[in-house]
Amino acid sequence: MRTQVGIVGAGPAGLLLAHLLDRAGVDCVVLEARSRAYCEERQRAGLLEQGTVDLLNELNVGDRLAREGLVHHGLALRFEGVSHRIPLSDLTGGKSVVIYGQTEVVKDLIAARLASGRDIRFEAEALALEGLDTAAPGISFREHGREDTLTCDFIAGCDGFHGICRAGLSQSALTIYERDYPFGWIGILSDSPPVSHELIYVNHDRGFALFTMRSPHVSRLYLQCDVDEDIANWPDARIWEELRRRLGDHDPPVPQGAVTQKNVTPMRSFVAAPMRHGALFLAGDAAHIVPPTGAKGLNLAAADVRVLARALIAFYTERSPRLLDRYSDVCLKRVWKAQRFSWWMTSMLHRFHGDTPFERRMQLAELDYITGSPAGMTTLAENYVGLPFEDL
Ligand code: FAD
Ligand code: DHB
Repeated sequence: MRTQVGIVGAGPAGLLLAHLLDRAGVDCVVLEARSRAYCEERQRAGLLEQGTVDLLNELNVGDRLAREGLVHHGLALRFEGVSHRIPLSDLTGGKSVVIYGQTEVVKDLIAARLASGRDIRFEAEALALEGLDTAAPGISFREHGREDTLTCDFIAGCDGFHGICRAGLSQSALTIYERDYPFGWIGILSDSPPVSHELIYVNHDRGFALFTMRSPHVSRLYLQCDVDEDIANWPDARIWEELRRRLGDHDPPVPQGAVTQKNVTPMRSFVAAPMRHGALFLAGDAAHIVPPTGAKGLNLAAADVRVLARALIAFYTERSPRLLDRYSDVCLKRVWKAQRFSWWMTSMLHRFHGDTPFERRMQLAELDYITGSPAGMTTLAENYVGLPFEDL
């Protein structure tokens, strides 16, 4: 088997890259370890920056997003029992964000690719990469119990944090920057309307909570928990009670509904640099992880492949490797700013074990400043809606 670009992983990064390359006539093959149903049902992110929405529209996969996505012009930070609105659009020249589940983005991208007659090799697990420093690198993979090799010009490692593309590189080739947080998030999906039409990020003595949504009838709710929390210790009644306590005296109170999904997510900041190794280009979670506060993970994956697609297309149309050579540096500039924002939001909004009364006052003073000053609010807003893209 041979193609121009071998893509490992059909998450948002791999699927968006495949669409961008198809549009320019660059040939690619997508290998995905899991089934289509598994990829479409995996509950994860839900908030799209304007740039991500624009990209989906450019690729003609934005119709359902335009119909069903919920456009948000503001959000609330709630601390000491009071909500403070950040008017995102007013502060950013009219930019907004859209709530539309990653599950839905993935469904739309898969359906559009299959409808155009192109395929995605589901249940085809990449096993190892070969010849990254040669002109004909390859991906060995197993599909329906049979092993084969895909030979390509370039490999896009879009296989997420636990994938094989980064893991197969020699440790001396990578610089790893990381921070683990001493807490995680319990996330639930509930058949109940959101408590408010805008998101509420809560800093509370008992820990962080986030009230977000997937539709006018479905809520997505998160609670800070211990890092090694066993979800079995959280029956639904305990989760609702804790959500009520952290939201505090709010009108209306939290609407309850049937809990349809429940899990614990660890929190981590991670960057592996550089993002290019010979013919291999890492993109999305394969190269970096952010803690979810501020919802940058999926949006960063989209930003990486936007740069990668431009670089690959320039290579095939102009025979110019210039953008490929700049790929890692261009992406990492945005990655580090998103890392800083996610770390800052996480630090400002969570309770840390053993924080002193002084540190707690610092956190509340920061929230008071951020919500009380136009400069403070603008700093949050311009990062939240997504920083501008660099010209290539
Ligand atoms: P992924 O979505 O991980 O896709 C990688 C794909 O590669 C997967 O389909 C995987 O099956 C496939 N793969 C892996 N190994 C192989 C192999 N060997 N061969 C072939 N295929 C392979 N972000 C937010 O902004 N907000 C959130 O609330 C949020 N919650 C999250 C909860 C969880 C549990 C996780 C894990 C992530 C969450 N994120 C969140 C982050 C966001 O979902 C990711 O940043 C986003 O999915 C990155 O997309 P990706 O395409 O890079 O990676
Ligand atoms: C969502 C998740 C986040 O981490 C966030 O900051 C905003 C929204 C969500 O799942 O909707």
